[in-house]
Amino acid sequence: MAKANDKDDTVAKTTSKKGASKKSSAGMTAKKKAAAKSKTAKPEPKAKKKVGKKPAAAAEPKPEPKAKKKAGKKAAVAAEPKPEPKAKKAGKKAAVAEAKPEPKAKKKAGKKAAVAAEAKPEPKKKAGKKPAAAAEPKAKKKAGKPKAEPKPSKKTANKKTANKKTANKKTANKKTANKKTARKAKAGKAAKSTLAERVDKHLLYQYSVQSPEADIEFFVDRYHELRGKDPVVLREDFCGTSLISTTWAALGDDRRAVGVDLDTATLEWARKHNLGKLDPEARARIDLRQANVLDGGGERSDVTCAMNFSYGVFKTRAELRRYLEVAFEQLADDGVFVTELYGGTEAIVQVTDEREVEDPTETIGDFTYVWEQASYNPITHETLCHIHFVLPDGSKLERAFTYDWRLWSIPELRELLYEVGFSSVRVYWEATDEDGDGTGEYYATEKEDNQESWLVYIIAAK
Ligand SMILES: C[S@@+](CC[C@H](N)C(=O)[O-])C[C@H]1O[C@@H](n2cnc3c(N)ncnc32)[C@H](O)[C@@H]1O
Repeated sequence: MAKANDKDDTVAKTTSKKGASKKSSAGMTAKKKAAAKSKTAKPEPKAKKKVGKKPAAAAEPKPEPKAKKKAGKKAAVAAEPKPEPKAKKAGKKAAVAEAKPEPKAKKKAGKKAAVAAEAKPEPKKKAGKKPAAAAEPKAKKKAGKPKAEPKPSKKTANKKTANKKTANKKTANKKTANKKTARKAKAGKAAKSTLAERVDKHLLYQYSVQSPEADIEFFVDRYHELRGKDPVVLREDFCGTSLISTTWAALGDDRRAVGVDLDTATLEWARKHNLGKLDPEARARIDLRQANVLDGGGERSDVTCAMNFSYGVFKTRAELRRYLEVAFEQLADDGVFVTELYGGTEAIVQVTDEREVEDPTETIGDFTYVWEQASYNPITHETLCHIHFVLPDGSKLERAFTYDWRLWSIPELRELLYEVGFSSVRVYWEATDEDGDGTGEYYATEKEDNQESWLVYIIAAK
């Protein structure tokens, strides 16, 4: 395999994605977003604003792209006095400690408490287990006194039988009554049930964060540039609902797809709701595999994609390297691996962003997608994130999806891709307009200013 083509890596190539890019939606104006409809977005990345321009804003939670709202908030933040940096500037540790010892401690404690309450349900569970442990002494008591049951006399026995019959009748009547009440309650509940109770979270996810046509167009363009031909076999690692595989097979009679995911229920959903909509020939061209991506398997592919940061489940270098080795092996000799990565100054702060999403079927109605970065550990770079949905009737689907990831950096990922044998690894950055909003166009680049949030494609050629 050829060595890294450094020249290639530095050649800036602008690429345009029809329908606007998903991720850039965060930085879109409301007008643009409306135009792009649901063909936008990813879990999180928001504004493409350059960091240097608004330093104070970096510390603020940014509820998404709404330009006006944001501008207002930022102005407010900018107007606030910032004593902390001054203390740091003084450069004297003692002075810093004197200047703000308490507020810092309080701030930290406050944040941690909030995270523990919101993002970590485990402690609650543990607390719930305590009563069970407390019940142990009772059990021991019982065990310690194994009393034999007194045998009843005949008379007593008859009485007991009569009583039993009456009791049985009463119980039967009660049961019928209970059943009726339950039926009534059920009917009442159905009438009163909220949208959050009725919606399909996978559909909401797809509307919110996936844009398969735009992704596929990008894959094909890059593959064509590199190999001078069209890819035929696509592998979708961490395929989830397999929307990309489904779209791939639907878009070309010769196109085949391999989708890999661990989760049985999600794959069942994929078969029913996505593959199920294809004609039988197209469906037959998709090989859905319930497997660990680390295990490989299936036809070798021209393009393999690992979208929406899913490889973040691999928390150590060794694990991620193993995954990339398998991805490399599963590719055809001239195959291309595509993945995404997000970052920026806001990627590592506790933040909750909201974005309006259009329901393309108009059955649910437009809803709000909420991305919550609940925690980030600077020691391990582990981050815990949730997706929530707020439905048009105001009901909430909390923690519809939770991700426990390591947030990898571009150089870490890139070095590993070279290590496992890829010959060229390009980073595609999203272009911004004069307002700092993402345009949906990506270009290969080697140097950029950091931003509050960014999302890149990584294209690794075998
Ligand atoms: C963030 S979702 C991505 C879904 C979809 N690919 C997308 O772009 O939106 C992550 C998916 O990866 C799957 N997954 C996690 N670890 C996996 C592993 N080791 N092997 C295969 N699938 C895995 C999960 O079941 C889940 O469906």
